[in-house]
Amino acid sequence: MNMRVNIPVELDRLAVSNDRIPRPVVGEPAAGAASPHESASLHVSGEAVYTDDIPELRGTVYAALGLSAKPHARVLGMDLDAVRKAPGVIAVLTAKDIPGVNDCGPVLADDPILADGLVQYVGQPMFIVVAKSTEAARHAARLGKVDYEELPFLLTPKQAKDAHSGTTDELRLIQGDVQNALATAPVRLTGTFECGGQEQFYLEGQIAYAIPREKDGMLVQCSTQHPTEMQHAVSHALGWQRHQVEVECRRLGGGFGGKESQSAIFACLASICAQHLHRPVKLRADRDNDMMITGKRHGFYYEYDVGFDTDGRILGVKLDMTLHSGFSADLSEAVASRALAHFDNAYYIPAADIHTMCGKVNTQSATAFRGFGAPQGALITEVLIDRVARQLGKDPLDVRLLNLYGTDTRNVTPYGEVVEGNLLEPIMTELEASSDYRARRQAVQEFNAQSPILKKGLAMTPVKFGISFNVPAFNQAGALVHIYRDGSVLVNHGGIEMGQGLNTKVGQIVANTLGLDLECVRLTATDTYKVINTSATAASTGSDLNGKAAEDAALTLRNRLADFAARKYGGKADDVVFAWRQVSVNGKTLPFAQLVEEAYWDRVQLWSDGFYKTPDISWDKATSHGHPFYYYAFGAAVSEVVVDTLTGEWKLLRADILHDVGASINPAIDIGQIEGGYIQGTGWLTSEELVWRDDGRLMTHAPSTYKIPAISDCPRDFRVQLFKTRNHKDSVHHSKAVGEPPLVHGISVFNAINDAVSAVGNGKDSPNLLAPATPEAILNAVEELRERSAA
Ligand code: MTE
Ligand code: HPA
Ligand code: MOS
Repeated sequence: MNMRVNIPVELDRLAVSNDRIPRPVVGEPAAGAASPHESASLHVSGEAVYTDDIPELRGTVYAALGLSAKPHARVLGMDLDAVRKAPGVIAVLTAKDIPGVNDCGPVLADDPILADGLVQYVGQPMFIVVAKSTEAARHAARLGKVDYEELPFLLTPKQAKDAHSGTTDELRLIQGDVQNALATAPVRLTGTFECGGQEQFYLEGQIAYAIPREKDGMLVQCSTQHPTEMQHAVSHALGWQRHQVEVECRRLGGGFGGKESQSAIFACLASICAQHLHRPVKLRADRDNDMMITGKRHGFYYEYDVGFDTDGRILGVKLDMTLHSGFSADLSEAVASRALAHFDNAYYIPAADIHTMCGKVNTQSATAFRGFGAPQGALITEVLIDRVARQLGKDPLDVRLLNLYGTDTRNVTPYGEVVEGNLLEPIMTELEASSDYRARRQAVQEFNAQSPILKKGLAMTPVKFGISFNVPAFNQAGALVHIYRDGSVLVNHGGIEMGQGLNTKVGQIVANTLGLDLECVRLTATDTYKVINTSATAASTGSDLNGKAAEDAALTLRNRLADFAARKYGGKADDVVFAWRQVSVNGKTLPFAQLVEEAYWDRVQLWSDGFYKTPDISWDKATSHGHPFYYYAFGAAVSEVVVDTLTGEWKLLRADILHDVGASINPAIDIGQIEGGYIQGTGWLTSEELVWRDDGRLMTHAPSTYKIPAISDCPRDFRVQLFKTRNHKDSVHHSKAVGEPPLVHGISVFNAINDAVSAVGNGKDSPNLLAPATPEAILNAVEELRERSAA
């Protein structure tokens, strides 16, 4: 599966775009500066504390899980004697030992913490062993003997669709007269398509460390994107009130959606054992168990019927999407909803009839993964546009440009939201020129004409990504800002730092508001005893929501300090200036710290909360219409690949990305997010393949068999630019969310591979390449297309 292709390209140095960004100077306005990540030096020195690094308390014991070996079966009996007798074992718990409710589902109550009489996938936790060491617990967990009565099972979304097996509500979006649009369309494409799922592959695996406290309390240190949900799940499982459970997390070694809901089973199990034994319990899944237990990105099965005019303009889309939901609902309905609101990607679609179903199958329960259904929605339309362009003998870029959303007309999405602040056309035009697309298209054609084996491919794709949780209520956040008497600032907010730089940005925002710099501001662990009732750090809204909440708190403090300064030194409070760690008031300048100390003696409150809720958003689930997104983030990518048509191996030669992050709060972090998102999206559509064996066992449950992109898979020529703009909406510092949208740029790589493969055919026919385009899939597509074109 290694992608080694010998190609005539110089091995020039990986272009590190961050090099070109000036570093901030102490005292300069903090927001907008390319400050390094607030934990960067800790990350590289190994000093950054992740959950497993927290010094353990005396008496800590360790847990491991016994997993189901069958995809669907009644459990007639479990013989756990050998487990109990294994060396070092302290306790073995099953479903009947759960004091509260045996469920940790985030939306529906269909996620047992431990299987109780019924198993629904290979890998489902059935019992938990606590021992003196992790090794002893893991060893003992393998000794359970289970008597199963096997039941019929399903594994693919197509099987679920045929069996009408769903986990949650089906969704439907109808706009315009699609029947008529299709019936009268001069060009029509009908058929099916599939894309696979994707493992989040966070570097830090799932882990929870539960510490019992006095008077029936529990502190849970765990790696999660959603501490409040963990607090809820743990209190529910223990039969407690929420105020008994404190969940704390300083940072994650990556989440990528995989720790939005599915950290719950670990938090609950560690807590159940800790309460049972009245001892601190740590549960850390190893990589294989993590991948066997937890859910992945949803694979999709699509049935489409799309009509175009003879120029390639889309007239109508009928689309049926079946999600690989797994055994339970988890967040699948929200994922389907986002797919439904992103199948249009960047294009105006006058008539649509879109249906989604969350296919219930006997595998891990699929969950959030960067993009949350949007990439799967966008993919199908991008693939079909490519196909119709080829059929019409046009450059796919021209068909794309023809279909882009307009600014005054052709600007309403199928779900009824007007695309305001549309930057698609200027971004596409600028990137087309800066990437030298037309000349390179010519060069690719010339290369392919004289190269029988190696074929190059080129593709440019846009993205439009809706920003806001598609559940309106989740779009709220809180923060606490403290100013100590020496002028140093402590910030706590409800968001989770998972490597994306949230704390750096929030720190910059607070520093900026108070005229300080990042060195004056410290961010603390997220904690359900501080800012409460928080939303997951997800939907790319982390800095939008928490940044605004922290800014709100900082503004309250600045106003209080300005009022005090004017009272003491004269002049108007509105004229007081906070900059360069100093305060200027009525012609006098004094250090910020001095003003703070003086304010303390005047009994000014030097800490504040802050709150933010996103305005102007709504969603009607019954009709799939509304205004779900506060704004859109835009971008475009050009990818060039070379494919070896004898082996199916390929190489990414060059990538050019122009992406809209509004007015960037931190260009270095934003460029990192764009590079990472693009490579992660590329991995999803190419090398990362999930294979479930016929008996339901996931075979790709370790890096030996599951291939995420490596540094050698990054393009040698990697050019990422931020589009110069500012958010037209009143977002924090007029920036835009950046976490997920760039993942969609990976589609340009899939289409570039398709483009290269199509060169073995007659030019009009498209390859039948499904995602992921592994070398095996590419080779099969090459052979199939050759035969089809020859016939
Ligand atoms: N970047 C890193 N380094 N690690 C992560 O886990 N998660 C992604 C994205 N970028 C992730 C990341 C996902 S799925 C989301 S929703 C956003 O970051 C969440 O953070 P934000 O809302 O603060 O951008
Ligand atoms: N993204 C991530 N998580 C979510 C969303 C979303 O849009 N909606 C509900 N949970
Ligand atoms: Mo990101 S998938 O919304 O955690």
